[in-house]
Amino acid sequence: MEQQQEYDRAVSGKIHYLNFPQRKIYETLDDKFHLNSVEREVFTLKPSVPVYFIRPASIKRAAQFFLENFRSFKHESSDVLYSVKSNPDVAVLKHLFDSGIKHFDVASLAEVKLINELFGNEAKMYFMHPIKSREAIFEAYFNHDIRDFSLDSFDELKKILEVTNNARDLGLHLRLAVSNSNAAIKLSGKFGALPSKSVALARKIRSHAARFGICFHVGSQCMDPLEYRSAILATKNVVEKAGIKLDVLDVGGGFPSFYPGMAPIALRSYFEEISDAVVQANFDSDCKIWCEPGRALVAESGSLLVRVEGKKNSMLYLNDGTYGGLFDAGFPGFVYPVRAIRIKGRTPLSANTTSFGFYGPTCDSLDSMKGPFLLPENISEGDYIEVGQLGAYSRSIRTDFNGFNKNLQIEVSDEPLVSMYQEVEEEQAVAICQK
Ligand SMILES: Cc1ncc(COP(=O)(O)O)c(C=O)c1O
Repeated sequence: MEQQQEYDRAVSGKIHYLNFPQRKIYETLDDKFHLNSVEREVFTLKPSVPVYFIRPASIKRAAQFFLENFRSFKHESSDVLYSVKSNPDVAVLKHLFDSGIKHFDVASLAEVKLINELFGNEAKMYFMHPIKSREAIFEAYFNHDIRDFSLDSFDELKKILEVTNNARDLGLHLRLAVSNSNAAIKLSGKFGALPSKSVALARKIRSHAARFGICFHVGSQCMDPLEYRSAILATKNVVEKAGIKLDVLDVGGGFPSFYPGMAPIALRSYFEEISDAVVQANFDSDCKIWCEPGRALVAESGSLLVRVEGKKNSMLYLNDGTYGGLFDAGFPGFVYPVRAIRIKGRTPLSANTTSFGFYGPTCDSLDSMKGPFLLPENISEGDYIEVGQLGAYSRSIRTDFNGFNKNLQIEVSDEPLVSMYQEVEEEQAVAICQK
């Protein structure tokens, strides 16, 4: 009992609730409570609500990989814009910023205000949502010094020009609709002008832009680097047919992460394909190259810890689901890496695994996830499951439906369940050995 109270005291100074994020979570702890792995947290806290875990080292590793490798083009400059929508958590944003990410793709005024509040004018923002409200454009331009906007129609161009009083210092980025056929999440149905119908629009935008760009999105979790090549060559066609100069090529997001059944080839191959296609397209050497990753920068840094509240045959009833942090496990049917954790003192978890599906805690039958999630066959009520790869598109999507949005976030320093950046470590290890 005494020990429990001690833990409770430690926990109240350590955990930050999602609505009140703080940067440092260990400050109030002595060494005894410096918990640094998901497993240790579970043994200590035995949490009854879902808990997010973030791994700052993982965020840093991904950021450095992008900053180092996406910069290797023969062009004057390239920038990595973090796509805030994938995870707008304050701690995550600060870790990215501290790791060198200073450019942010924002899609709403709320994101603009958040980045401004956190980093002021040390951060540069780009409003890359093709259809924005007039109020958002006004505030972004006049109150937050945002100059770069994406658009995909004559109407949006007119809107931006009207709101900014025909500003002459705009970076205007034409969003093209490109193939999304190798992506897990398609993003081309809603936004983007067809390349074959974009020539007149490109010319018109160019005539009003201080900086003319073309951007696209090959779809999120894009499994084939050739999609970037096709999109870059489509860009080249538009630019050539329009007879205009391209100042910025923005290849968007879409860079994949690692999921069971969706293991992409190395990110390096994506960068090589892009680099090669850019050379083939022969854009002017002062054309800037940007990318807007979300998922690949943060997915593997985050896990969600859930608890099994019930079991019926091959279905586990969890304390979080598709209305919470597991949205993509529902309709798009993402399968996440999972690991069962049983509190000490119970009979051990079986080494034999079997396939389970999940139900979330709400009353809605849509709150179900077919998986398959491979877990020990004797997993049962009271056991915990660490669901990996949830650093992207989990916190940002969760809802309060049925009142199940109480959760916590803790920073840990253990390794993620899977990593796209292992090769970096291997290289670093070789470099160290050779010294
Ligand atoms: C305009 C834009 N840029 C970047 C991203 C990030 O994409 P991803 O997480 O696939 O890298 C998105 C995601 O929806 C987007 O809409």
